[in-house]
This record gives sequence, structure tokens and C-alpha cells, in this order.
Amino acid sequence: MSERLPIAVLVSGTGTNLQALLDTVHGRDAQIVAVASSLAGVPALARAEQRGVPTAVFARSAYPDRGARDQALADWLAERGTQLVVLAGYMELLGAPFLDRFPGAVINVHPSLLPSFTGMRAVEQALEYGVKVFGVTVHYVDAGVDSGAVILQGAVELLGAREPGEVLAALRPLEHELLPRAVSLFAAGALSVDPENPRRIAIRAEDARTAGV
Ligand code: GRF
Repeated sequence: MSERLPIAVLVSGTGTNLQALLDTVHGRDAQIVAVASSLAGVPALARAEQRGVPTAVFARSAYPDRGARDQALADWLAERGTQLVVLAGYMELLGAPFLDRFPGAVINVHPSLLPSFTGMRAVEQALEYGVKVFGVTVHYVDAGVDSGAVILQGAVELLGAREPGEVLAALRPLEHELLPRAVSLFAAGALSVDPENPRRIAIRAEDARTAGV
């Protein structure tokens, strides 16, 4: 039996972050045992299938309400042995009952320096605000919108950015580095909640040094 941490990845679209996980941590620091999508036919599902990872679609329209969908999703992930749920471009909110099934073990990648620009259209919000530094946050998921404790962040200065596409292109390499790094840290048991401040995630010193954060 594999000793690697069994993780699930939730997607809704292109799946470039899933690809980064498949290319770096999968079969090494962790094992992707399930990929679930909120939409059928998206490229992310094909990326998983190509690597032989089991996939499933949990479309909102197939269930009477979000709670029923979340429960079916959580049941499938639990059946697959999931110990960490990674949201990688998953475009649905997950309710508290889902989060309670995987306590302290759901993380997300968001294309802004949180707490700025939560929710949808984060890059558009940042451009409208006129910021000069853009960034990416990997954070724990709580019942709020992009409000869980920060695990890793990265930033890039873009003085002349006008279009969301050019910002996203600059942020993609950061996402593809930070999300796998956060998964590896989690799998190594290197992340803990600071008892003095539960918003602060402590990274074990030797791992923080090698991670360069
Ligand atoms: C990323 O920009 C991520 O930050 C956001 O959704 C996007 C997903 O992209 N949450 P991809 O499907 O991984 O290519």
C-alpha cells in the first residue's frame, strides 16, 4: 500500500493547476486518488484521465440542492481515501457540512494577495483598483469566501498591466509553484496552526528554509 498522502483535486475548467500537481507531487509527496469536477467535459478531467486518476462529475443541476451535491461529493472523496482536498479552479462554494468531513484539510489557490480581492474576478478587481503588485495565495478553506488562514503567498510587480489575461499569464507560474509546494508541506506534516493566533499557519523551520518562504 502506498505511504503517500491520498489527495483529491476539485476542478471546474482548464486544470493547469491540476497539471502542475500531476507533474510534481503526484506519485512523489502525495497520491492524487480522485479528481472531481463541477462541470462535465472540461479539459481538467482529460488531464486526470490521461494519468489514470479516477474522475467524477458532480454538477449542481444533478442534485436537489447544494447540500445534497456536497454530501455526494464528500462521500465519493471519502470512499477514495482522501485525506486532503485541493481546490484548483473549483468554481463552487463548499458548505460547512462538507468542510466538517475533512477538518483542517481543504486548501484553495486564489489569484490575489488575500485579504484583498476575494471572490470571483479577483484579477479584474485588482486591475480596477489600480494595484501595482499582483499575487497568489494558497490558503485553508473555511465557510467564508477566500477567508481561511494563509499558507503561502507569492507576488509579482506589474507596473503597466491593463488586461486580465496578461496578469493571469504572470500569475500562472506562481500558482503552479505555490500550490504543489503547499501540498508537499501539508503531506510532510510541516504545517500547523499557531496556538496564539489561529489565523497564522506555522511552517516547520527546516521546511520553511528549503521552501524559501
Ligand atoms: C486559477 O487562476 C486559480 O487561482 C483560480 O482558478 C484558476 C484555475 O485555473 N482559483 P486552472 O483551471 O488550474 O488552469
